[in-house]
Amino acid sequence: MTNKTFYIETFGCQMNAHDSEKVVGTLLERGYARMETPEAADFVLYNTCSIRDKAEQKVFNRLQQFKRAAGKGKVFGVIGCVAQQEGERIFDRAPHVSLVAGSASYTKLPEMLAQLEAGNRRVTGLSLDTEETFDTPFTRRDNPHRAYITIIEGCDKSCAYCVVPFTRGPERSRTGASVMEEARRLAGSGCTDVQLLGQNVNSYHDPSPAGWDFATLLARVGEIAGIRRVRFTTSHPRDFVKEIIDAIDANPVLANHVHLPVQSGSNRVLNAMQRLYTRSEYMRRIEWMKNASRPIAITTDIIVGFPGESEEDFQATLALIEEVEYDSLFAFKYSPRPNTAALEMADQVPEEEKTRRIMILLERQRAIQIRRNAATIGEVREVHVEGRNEALGQWIGRTTDNKTLNFTHCGPEGSGLTGTYLPVRITRAGPNSLVGESLN
Ligand code: SAH
Ligand code: SF4
Ligand code: F3S
Repeated sequence: MTNKTFYIETFGCQMNAHDSEKVVGTLLERGYARMETPEAADFVLYNTCSIRDKAEQKVFNRLQQFKRAAGKGKVFGVIGCVAQQEGERIFDRAPHVSLVAGSASYTKLPEMLAQLEAGNRRVTGLSLDTEETFDTPFTRRDNPHRAYITIIEGCDKSCAYCVVPFTRGPERSRTGASVMEEARRLAGSGCTDVQLLGQNVNSYHDPSPAGWDFATLLARVGEIAGIRRVRFTTSHPRDFVKEIIDAIDANPVLANHVHLPVQSGSNRVLNAMQRLYTRSEYMRRIEWMKNASRPIAITTDIIVGFPGESEEDFQATLALIEEVEYDSLFAFKYSPRPNTAALEMADQVPEEEKTRRIMILLERQRAIQIRRNAATIGEVREVHVEGRNEALGQWIGRTTDNKTLNFTHCGPEGSGLTGTYLPVRITRAGPNSLVGESLN
């Protein structure tokens, strides 16, 4: 490295997006300047995802493109979930990589950077046996109005298809006091919308003597002056308790949206997946939400083609989405992953069959969303304004139930709406977004 310049590209989930904000802050603090392209930077970092095979391949494609740039002063780093999963094998697959580090080692980032600066070309951070969480005062957030706050890292579940327990290590919760301090600091700087993050936020347990559970933490964050919306992701149905819905019910600052991944509607498949709940236990949680005094939007994740999934199992999943009527969902074709229990399972479903099932599922869900969104035409919703789409001449807003509501606005404050909250009347609805007019 001749210049302290860096470029970072991030793949994967919100946890990774937020880790990158912390890594960027740490680099800036150390005197590095951020570049917009990998060509312009001396230090190129990829924060990687390995949840499905396709995600994992992306980083190796990127590294391949830049093979020849190495040796001309460019240094490459692979961090995140592929780094933790593949470890030192990455140095063999891509010899121009000089840093391989998983998320549980980011507290040691300053030491690892010092080694790179000293010319070490094989620096690793792969230990998972840390008790620490990666809280840093240097986090550089991309958005001044909406912020992620990590509350728990890692995962102690062992879903048969999932790499996360191997790539992010055991669960570690932050203290309630440090979460509150960060949320207050954000509110003080004008941020009004926060999202509490973890692979399983419901198993949050404050390690300090206060011993808060997740519902308590959620309620407390919702009481901070200046915070207008609090979201959280992701919930595991097994640990999702009624107190969470009671907290949402009691305070409208807690957003009307719960993402509760079901994965399958078949008890046989749920059992094989080691999800630790039955369909009827999951549906009890849906009932709590449907019985709340405010309507709560419900979204989910579904995997099709898990080993052994029969046509009957798949039909059970279709019946479940019709019964719940999700506001939206993410559907994935099962992807066999290293280290996981499902990798060795018999009856792997053929790729064409997975494709057929996911197409049917998405088509059914699309019809549900068209129907549900159309029913909201004429209603007024408060949006948090996220920006402007110049091409369409519209502002982009988000409702408390996490829907995109694009709207026109002809007030005097035409240019500076981003970050404000406005009432908008819904005039049109598509499957994935709503269109409206502001009432001001
Ligand atoms: N902690 C979160 C999951 C994060 S991964 C939770 O428990 O909900 C996000 C989603 O990716 C999962 O909900 C699952 O639907 C999907 N997923 C995980 N592993 C997968 C695999 N091997 N193949 C296909 N989809 C997978
Ligand atoms: Fe993966 Fe299951 Fe943990 Fe979610 S709860 S991260 S799906 S092991
Ligand atoms: Fe991917 Fe790691 Fe997130 S595997 S989904 S980046 S936890």
